[in-house]
Amino acid sequence: MSEHPEALNAERLRIALGERTFQFLETTSSTNDVAQRWAADGAPHGAVVVAEFQTEGRGRFGRRWQAPSGTALLFSVVLRPAQLNILPVRYGMAAAVSVRSALIELPALDSSVVKLKWPNDVQLHGRKVCGILLEPLWRGASLEAIIVGVGINVRVPFDEPELSATATNLEAHCQASIDRALLLADILKRLTFWSAHAEGLALFQAWRAALNMLGKRVQAADATTGRQIVAGQALDVDEDGALLVRADDGKIHRVFAGEVTLQKPSVK
Ligand code: BTN
Repeated sequence: MSEHPEALNAERLRIALGERTFQFLETTSSTNDVAQRWAADGAPHGAVVVAEFQTEGRGRFGRRWQAPSGTALLFSVVLRPAQLNILPVRYGMAAAVSVRSALIELPALDSSVVKLKWPNDVQLHGRKVCGILLEPLWRGASLEAIIVGVGINVRVPFDEPELSATATNLEAHCQASIDRALLLADILKRLTFWSAHAEGLALFQAWRAALNMLGKRVQAADATTGRQIVAGQALDVDEDGALLVRADDGKIHRVFAGEVTLQKPSVK
């Protein structure tokens, strides 16, 4: 198979990323694994691991995350928390807001079609284009680093109908081919800004304003067992990242983790 014209390599990344510390791997198990080890060995804040292919890419709730070589933008960033006691979820907000704001700049995309699905999936026209996996690295009780793993579908062939109904690609919606090195550089620049303001109200407000579910009827389920946690109206989110759902009995639930889906209105 001939190489895609914008295949990633260390030289192209060096030009796009300037002074940033990075590692590029053609193939690895998971960029999050590499970033975890690197963080434990002293990788600086903002160091990034990029791969063309992962043999054991993973998503939230232990799910697999797969994409053929050269079809996705796969990277993991090492972030060193600037403040004590900051919640890891604030870095998820920072990453989601950074990816979304970079995507909005691409041709044919704007803020009305690029939305966030709680807590931090990025959706294009209601289908997932980017997933974010946060893995905190603790030393005793102190948060030493957060690994922010990001997978963006650029031109992934979704053969299974189940996937093509829920996932999409950047190139399916932009009237241009995507240069992943430039997109990565743009996202990282934004993430540098937002991670420095991870505790601030502005980040929370940007994240909240981009969520697609507030005011709508949702169902939250345990992602591993599929068991329903609550169904009701998504009222709001709070600054700790929880989704506030008012159940039909009027009780308000704070959902911190789980799979939240929009409930289709029932046809009477
Ligand atoms: C999700 O479940 O939505 C999160 C998916 C995160 C996937 C990315 S791809 C790069 C990084 N390395 C991994 O193994 N996972 C993350």
